[in-house]
Amino acid sequence: MNRPDIYGSPVAELVRRRVSCRSFDGRALEPQVLEELERTAAGAAAPFGSRPRFGVIDNEKVRAENLFSAGSYGMIKGARYYLAALVRRDEPRRWEDAGFALEAAVLHASGLGLGTCWIGGVFDRRRFGRVLGIRADEQLPAVVAVGRPAEKRSLRDRLVRWSAKGDRRKPVADLFFAGGWDSSLVMEDAGEWGQALECVRLAPSASNKQPWRIVRLGNAFHFHLARDKAYSAMMPLADLQRIDLGIAMCHFQFSAAELGLQGKWQDSMPQIEGTPGHFEYIATYVIRNS
Ligand SMILES: Cc1cc2nc3c(=O)[nH]c(=O)nc-3n(C[C@H](O)[C@H](O)[C@H](O)COP(=O)(O)O)c2cc1C
Repeated sequence: MNRPDIYGSPVAELVRRRVSCRSFDGRALEPQVLEELERTAAGAAAPFGSRPRFGVIDNEKVRAENLFSAGSYGMIKGARYYLAALVRRDEPRRWEDAGFALEAAVLHASGLGLGTCWIGGVFDRRRFGRVLGIRADEQLPAVVAVGRPAEKRSLRDRLVRWSAKGDRRKPVADLFFAGGWDSSLVMEDAGEWGQALECVRLAPSASNKQPWRIVRLGNAFHFHLARDKAYSAMMPLADLQRIDLGIAMCHFQFSAAELGLQGKWQDSMPQIEGTPGHFEYIATYVIRNS
């Protein structure tokens, strides 16, 4: 899925419009809408080629009111549907691919005027997994709540957003670099690629940590993860920060494709002097000059 024509609005606009929705109206969605979203995730051609399975959980059907454990950060009000990815434990890049594919569905949902919220923190993975028929060789990294937004946001919704500083993003200078880690990228110099980078900057990320760091060297954008080790240790059941990188790759690729910018993903780790110890190389997007 190089050209994401399915979304109704330009990707950059959807990226700008999307915010995490934690108050839904609880009403049913048409089955074909849910099927469409699942198909979008399954057809997203995630860059590392692992093959997650996707499914939708209908909270009402499974009559599991307590699907969430108590104390989940940002409990979601009125959510009835959860789009889920199941990944295989033996696929090393399962996290990024699940992030990429589910985010394609998030953008699609935004295009349909639906609200979404990624949930990767505390939720009852066992129960969700059972409903999805999870196999012993699979894991459930995260789910996305999807539905129509409630007319009024709950107090809890506003509180979670405030505490996660959900509206805030790091400045360009902290995220994107050119020539090396000691010189920040200047958007004006990046031309149209600046728009694709801005779509990364506006992406959702677990606890809004925005762990994406991208350095441009010549015609290549090297994506790195600025790992928060303490955070990862706190969340041992899924590598949420790699999921964040998959989401960022989705925003970058889709928005670039829409602008007619050509390129492809490669695994070509650069040797960059002064790479901080907690940075992990993820992937490189190489520009193809047309
Ligand atoms: C991988 C991932 C996991 C997340 N887990 C949760 C979660 O468990 N509960 C929650 O309320 N929000 C969760 N979020 C949403 C983030 O808190 C949110 O994206 C971030 O604060 C930025 O706000 P925004 O999405 O409104 O732009 C998650 C986001 C991502 C990408």
